[in-house]
Amino acid sequence: MKKFVETLADKKALVNRAGELIVSQIKAAIEQQDRFTIALAGGSTPKPVYELLAGESLPWSKIHIFWGDERYVPSSDSNSNQLMARQAWLDKVPIPEVNIHPMPTNSENPALDAKNHEAEIQEFFQVGSGEFPSVDLILLGMGDDGHTASLFPHTEALQERDRLITVGNKQGEPRITFTVPFINHAQCVIFLVSGANKCYALSQIFAAEGDDMAYPARLIKPQAELWWLLDQEAGTILKQQNLSISI
Ligand code: 6PG
Repeated sequence: MKKFVETLADKKALVNRAGELIVSQIKAAIEQQDRFTIALAGGSTPKPVYELLAGESLPWSKIHIFWGDERYVPSSDSNSNQLMARQAWLDKVPIPEVNIHPMPTNSENPALDAKNHEAEIQEFFQVGSGEFPSVDLILLGMGDDGHTASLFPHTEALQERDRLITVGNKQGEPRITFTVPFINHAQCVIFLVSGANKCYALSQIFAAEGDDMAYPARLIKPQAELWWLLDQEAGTILKQQNLSISI
């Protein structure tokens, strides 16, 4: 795995750099395999990146959209990661609806929805149980507690090693999430992290020794490339420790 850590001047530069990287990955993958699969992050940081991607001219019929995690709310709920990405991006481009694979949250049983989504992903990637398909690119955010996707500190979801999809737990609130091994089978992961409030967690995640259960983003090690794109505020400590290059 190759690791790249870039600190961008500000949030806007972070968004532009992310857009540039994602577009280049899309073009390379489609050139190579005539298809591109991406899992989106939720939260607020990626939203302007999705808005930027909505302005790109891309072979949308060859691009398949998944989510790395989802709040357990209806897709019409303002907290839905699916709704955010549709409003910021997917509703603005001619991507076929069959290429959009949202996490189900409608059976009132998170474990059942997780199981059903896992079956959908296995079908899409044509893999059997126990096999981990490789998503081309997974976008991730990181909370100020070091969580990523819906893999929260000291939760059961962190222990899941056999499933693709599991139920996350944010202070009692259920989430549907990719598991650590499924994320780590991705070709490439890009973390998008902004804000001074993320500094301390980043220093714990980048430390040579640390507590993976307390800082789950430490567990993320994709097959080919791991990118950390930080804004100045988030990346200060890492720059001081020469763990990040400024772009
Ligand atoms: C979610 C996300 C979550 C998010 C982090 C960072 O569903 O909220 O998947 O993991 O990426 O909490 O969120 P911000 O980008 O809003 O800081």
